[in-house]
Amino acid sequence: MTRGLVSLVGAGPGDPGLFTLRGRQRLRKADVVVYDRLVDPRLLDWAPARARRVYVGKACGAHAMTQDEINCLLIRHAQAGRRVVRLKGGDPFVFGRGGEEALALAEAGVRHEVVPGVSSAVAAPAAAGIPVTHRGVASSFTVVTGHGGSGRAPVDWARHARGADTLVILMGLAALPGIARELIAGGRAPATPVALVRAGTTTDQVVLTGTLADIAARAAAARLEPPVLILVGEVVRLREQLGVRRRSARRAALARARAGAGRLVGAAAAPRGHGSEKED
Ligand SMILES: C[S@@+](CC[C@H](N)C(=O)[O-])C[C@H]1O[C@@H](n2cnc3c(N)ncnc32)[C@H](O)[C@@H]1O
Repeated sequence: MTRGLVSLVGAGPGDPGLFTLRGRQRLRKADVVVYDRLVDPRLLDWAPARARRVYVGKACGAHAMTQDEINCLLIRHAQAGRRVVRLKGGDPFVFGRGGEEALALAEAGVRHEVVPGVSSAVAAPAAAGIPVTHRGVASSFTVVTGHGGSGRAPVDWARHARGADTLVILMGLAALPGIARELIAGGRAPATPVALVRAGTTTDQVVLTGTLADIAARAAAARLEPPVLILVGEVVRLREQLGVRRRSARRAALARARAGAGRLVGAAAAPRGHGSEKED
């Protein structure tokens, strides 16, 4: 084992106020910070000014670095005795390839740890006012990727249609028409409520609701862009009952101004955890 340490740190779902205290401790002592696309840049301010900041994000079709290159980078810095913070959106082990990075570090004999983060899988629904479980409505939820492809097995939507009460689908926006079609073919009622949460927990949060039958058309009309989480199930109806209302443009502008002013903790948080949002 080397003297260096790699901390795989979950950056949370977007609102910097949802970053963990331990993550902040690790950032404060970092020599190198290696960060992804969905990480709020304000988090980097916690690292010392002298710390190296390396962006390795992956946007559609534009990869700053391959996964192998990222693994090598982490190993190289740790072997040089540095404290490396690998900052990943949400939780590092939820569709974040954190497991692959941890395995590569273990194989290289590099000291490492995982600092869990708040996953968008639960935070984005909560910020939109939708509990993923609710007594008498949903007693189970599944978190599933919206796309197979690139070496992965195709998603068995027929199985998920008959599975958990609530489906939380990450990375599913591009495949939404097919997902909705296959869930209906698998047995979910076309009238099943669906919510799309874009940039959940942030001041840019957008929530769009519909049903399995019409959500793809609604999403296309709204021209939503990633990151978007898809929520399927009766729990979506609770949003109305919980009284989540459209926030005025003025309040949204105020929230943005506060966030822009650089207050880190809670800067982007809106009252009751609901970000500013537009609804159809
Ligand atoms: C590669 S996965 C990483 C998930 C992350 N590790 C987590 O635990 O949240 C990226 C996907 O997560 C979802 N996502 C991440 N942040 C989000 C947010 N703030 N609002 C809605 N969806 C989000 C989107 O589906 C996005 O395509």
